[in-house]
Amino acid sequence: MKICICGKGGSGKSTLTALLAQHYEQEGKDVVVVDTDESNLGLHRFLGVTPPNDLMDYMGGKQELMGKMMTALKRSDDLQNLQLFDQEWKIQDIPPSCRSENGKIQLVSVGKIHHAGEGCACPMGFIAKQFIKNLKSAPDEMVIIDTEAGLEHFGRGVEEGADAVLMVLDPSYESILLAKKAGDMTASMNLPMYFVLNKVTPELSSLMRKDLPGEQIIGEIPVDPELLTAGLAGENLTGLSSGMNQIIQNIASAAMKS
Ligand SMILES: Nc1ncnc2c1ncn2[C@@H]1O[C@H](COP(=O)(O)OP(=O)(O)OP(=O)(O)O)[C@@H](O)[C@H]1O
Ligand SMILES: [Mg+2]
Repeated sequence: MKICICGKGGSGKSTLTALLAQHYEQEGKDVVVVDTDESNLGLHRFLGVTPPNDLMDYMGGKQELMGKMMTALKRSDDLQNLQLFDQEWKIQDIPPSCRSENGKIQLVSVGKIHHAGEGCACPMGFIAKQFIKNLKSAPDEMVIIDTEAGLEHFGRGVEEGADAVLMVLDPSYESILLAKKAGDMTASMNLPMYFVLNKVTPELSSLMRKDLPGEQIIGEIPVDPELLTAGLAGENLTGLSSGMNQIIQNIASAAMKS
């Protein structure tokens, strides 16, 4: 199963990605975390791994892909005909240099911005979309996709290859607006959509619930001092309290129901 984690900047996407990955691993699944956020740099630390090589470099590098995209655009009206993969990949087909492992968790990174003036991130989005669509996951495998903040990845079509979308909301007006917009886009793709309310108190949760479809809310996470400290230190997010473990377990089970 492939789950796409999305939401507003700083809402807790990468934190929940890492917590779910560790939970599914404890359940005995092989987990691939796909980092499609070209800007943020810390996800590998939450998973306790070193940064893998960019998939972008494996695919020939940004300039080469940009050239292929420009050529394809000149020939036709869209990029549908430009296929980067000539055959389906299973998890074991991901090049070893492009995955960093910790137990049964593997991190794959589509690509990062490395240099000033290197150009836009469109090639990363293009690889992300095709990689996720092309990756075949077996029933005992979970693929968790951490996205960059906002909606651009919806526009790029990254979600097309996913089985479900999970949006993380912090208690803000912007998160509520984003949830509505993303909900419409997800519905147009016939994908199940779930919401997790993060950094909430019971009062904030009841205010947020007034604006959201209740049946799609699969969990609430309070502000947790240990998560905050580990997040600041860039540490592996292990050793949760039993209460937090239970919350993550409930979210992980609900997200798999689709
Ligand atoms: N429930 C929580 N309790 C306390 N701190 C949290 C909680 N969830 C996330 N955080 C902290 O909030 C900050 C932002 O979290 P995170 O990096 O996961 O968000 P993000 O949505 O991935 O951000 P970005 O949009 O920059 O990628 C981090 O410092 C993290 O440790
Ligand atoms: Mg993040």
